[in-house]
Amino acid sequence: MLYRPSPEAEEIDRWKEVNLIYNSALKEIGTKLEILNDEFQHVHKYNPIEHIKSRIKSSESIVKKLRSRGYESTIENMVEYVNDIAGIRVICSFISDIYRIAEMLTDQNDLTVLSVKDYIKNPKPSGYKSYHMIVTVPVFLSNRVVDVKVEIQIRTVAMDFWASLEHKIYYKFEGKAPAHIQSSLVGCARIVEQLDEEMLSLNNEIQKLDGREPA
Ligand code: GTP
Ligand code: MG
Repeated sequence: MLYRPSPEAEEIDRWKEVNLIYNSALKEIGTKLEILNDEFQHVHKYNPIEHIKSRIKSSESIVKKLRSRGYESTIENMVEYVNDIAGIRVICSFISDIYRIAEMLTDQNDLTVLSVKDYIKNPKPSGYKSYHMIVTVPVFLSNRVVDVKVEIQIRTVAMDFWASLEHKIYYKFEGKAPAHIQSSLVGCARIVEQLDEEMLSLNNEIQKLDGREPA
């Protein structure tokens, strides 16, 4: 007798395949970033990237997002409407590094930039700053090539520090933090901005002393 998987088993198998594809996309982008960082170290004698974090969105969060936007929880809808199933966060030392990394990625022929949100030039009212890109990267499978969406968030160490705390507070108060905490966070965001600017200008001064290009 021929084995026929149940519809549920087939769906689970498809979900596993989708997961594998998004994971592969994260590896592709991760490798691109490592190569850029290594080459930069070779040419300019410093690393623009402090570290990289990547994650696949949990199925619970994906379903929650689809539901909140009024879509049925199907694999087709996930792939179509959820842009951050695969997410990678790039933490840089200086603001100038953020734009440099973004430009170097944008210039790569096999990457397609679907959208950019520059929350550094236009911070959110909360004080949130970060540079976001949604890109697609081709993933080569045994019998086909798929373009896979990845959300890339690029920010400085200081911006990341701020965002982590703000995220914790947001969850703790389910988005309704007391006014004094919100305004304190806005104040911290201003300090982060000042710190990033001063650290950049200090670094530029040191680079010049060493006879190097400013960062
Ligand atoms: P979602 O918020 O994911 O539904 O996407 P969106 O289409 O509104 O895009 P946006 O670029 O605004 O946000 C994408 C991601 O950036 C979020 O999932 C968070 O990881 C991060 N983010 C955006 N705004 C904030 C914020 O105010 N605070 C923190 N800590 N993170 C934020
Ligand atoms: Mg998100």
